[in-house]
Amino acid sequence: MYRTHTCGQLRKEHLGQTVTLAGWVQKVRNLGAMTFFDLRDRYGVTQLVIDEKAPKALHEQAARLGREFVIQATGTVVERASKNERMATGEIEVAVGSLHVLNASATPPFTIEDQSDGGDELRMKYRYLDLRRNPLKNALVLRHKMARIVRNHLSDNDFLEIETPYLIRSTPEGARDFVVPSRMNPGEFYALPQSPQTFKQLLMVAGYDRYFQIVRCFRDEDLRADRQPEFTQIDCEMSFVERDDVLNMFEGLAKALFDQVLGVRFAEKFPRMSYADAMEFYGSDKPDTRFGMLFNDIAPLVQGRDFAVFDSAEYVGAIVAEGCANYTRKQIDELTDFVKRPQVGAKGLVYVRCDADGTFKSSVDKFYGPDDLAKIASATRARAGDLILILAGAKRQTLSALSTLRLEMGQRLGLRDPKKFSPLWVVDFPLLEWDEESGRFFAMHHPFTSPNPGDVALMDTDPGAVRANAYDFVVNGVEIGGGSIRIFDSALQRKMFAILGFAPEEAEAQFVFLTNAFRFGAPPHGGIAFGFDRFCSLFGGADSIRDYIAFPKNNAGRDTMADSPSPIAPAQLNELMIDLRTAPK
Ligand code: AMO
Repeated sequence: MYRTHTCGQLRKEHLGQTVTLAGWVQKVRNLGAMTFFDLRDRYGVTQLVIDEKAPKALHEQAARLGREFVIQATGTVVERASKNERMATGEIEVAVGSLHVLNASATPPFTIEDQSDGGDELRMKYRYLDLRRNPLKNALVLRHKMARIVRNHLSDNDFLEIETPYLIRSTPEGARDFVVPSRMNPGEFYALPQSPQTFKQLLMVAGYDRYFQIVRCFRDEDLRADRQPEFTQIDCEMSFVERDDVLNMFEGLAKALFDQVLGVRFAEKFPRMSYADAMEFYGSDKPDTRFGMLFNDIAPLVQGRDFAVFDSAEYVGAIVAEGCANYTRKQIDELTDFVKRPQVGAKGLVYVRCDADGTFKSSVDKFYGPDDLAKIASATRARAGDLILILAGAKRQTLSALSTLRLEMGQRLGLRDPKKFSPLWVVDFPLLEWDEESGRFFAMHHPFTSPNPGDVALMDTDPGAVRANAYDFVVNGVEIGGGSIRIFDSALQRKMFAILGFAPEEAEAQFVFLTNAFRFGAPPHGGIAFGFDRFCSLFGGADSIRDYIAFPKNNAGRDTMADSPSPIAPAQLNELMIDLRTAPK
């Protein structure tokens, strides 16, 4: 038997017992006649002590121990002279009688403690060592806990977890596919699924009316803090449902997670906001509603006064930063530089300061007198002490830039507390997006997304105005999930394909198995997928999803630990009938 207890288990109630622990040596402290060392395993840390009365041989053995050695130690649980309240096992220590080195360790490249001295890259390369640290361990424990609640909750609601294939036919979902060559079918490729979308719809045709899967998805897209090339979805689909059935069901799941993991209860229903309102008031389809600072369209108020920047703008938007009238020139310049960054994309920033004495100061005093500024303040509901920030330009870009500025101001003013949660459903997305370049419509979600029942007639007259029966689940400005009610009626599907510019044969070819299956009795159905990694990082209070994935890729999509992707042997390429155009680096 390697151990009688774990390193996180021993308390005062174990005093006097003989125990055996096994784990990694975290730290050795030699204090003259006594040697202390911390032994760590997944469950915690226990202090071991070899006191002055111990045999010389044991002292010598301890002197040879290095960091991260794997050892087994047997001894007696004794009360600690100086207790450590920050440690769960801090009231006791184990007076070692014998110890046994199970395995030596090379010196680790960074310290394996809560605050590590290792940089990001180094820790990624030695991920298995980084995973020994509490912050990462806690992240994986949280992930497991959440997965378990999801499985229990959905199983209790009659959902079946069904696996779907990873080697599939390429399906259009918006991102690029990762492809896998087929040896048995030379010149042909599988795609890795961007999501199990088509399969879950086939399961509905097959009659499995409540499906879920915690499933890996693969997307070859540019990476960000909340994007990985392989990530996990809680993927769900239901039959014989309308939008509200789906929203209610998965609001229940989200509430169960909030309650059981964080102890956060939401008594009310989650608010629902239309896409149009989200864009108008927050400039984003994933608004961070932890704070206000809503947009005000002030174009009618400020145009026609010979200020060319406003006059030529399609949109002039203002937000109010409460209590910021005391911003210095330097701070305003900083904000101006911020909005002018290429990622933000504004041309400049106009401000109106509402001073405590009731006067106004603005960067456009030349064009707008005190009365005009008072009108702007009144229209934006700014009060004495506030700072009004204004951006102008093309509508789409300006909304987006103002949204970034709003989030930045929220951050600066401490309005984005990671312990506060503000969930909502964003609904009524446009069904179609017009692409100027190709001069045609694209499906905003996917071609099987159903139009809002009330908007079907518009498909013939004004397709751009049709709203989709689609919804996103947004928390604190993060899109945690998204889904839709699907088209199950073949006439409506044909119409959709026609609007998207697919010839009937083309549509048939691209979606062959789904359109075929739909001929055999497709029930009304709809579903949703949550980004599981994002859900976990939201609960953990982190911006990046990376720490919630045991073995993630870096920003260049590389696994630096395994050094992948990597070239493959010429024989392998030959077998796959693949000629490379340029040799890999
Ligand atoms: P969608 O593409 O919106 O919908 O994806 C659902 C959720 O998955 C998460 N997500 C990601 N997480 C990490 N890294 C990524 N690269 C990444 N891409 C997406 C997001 C997102 O909300 N089949 C549809 C769902 C449906 O209609 O039922 C789908 O995949 O949190």
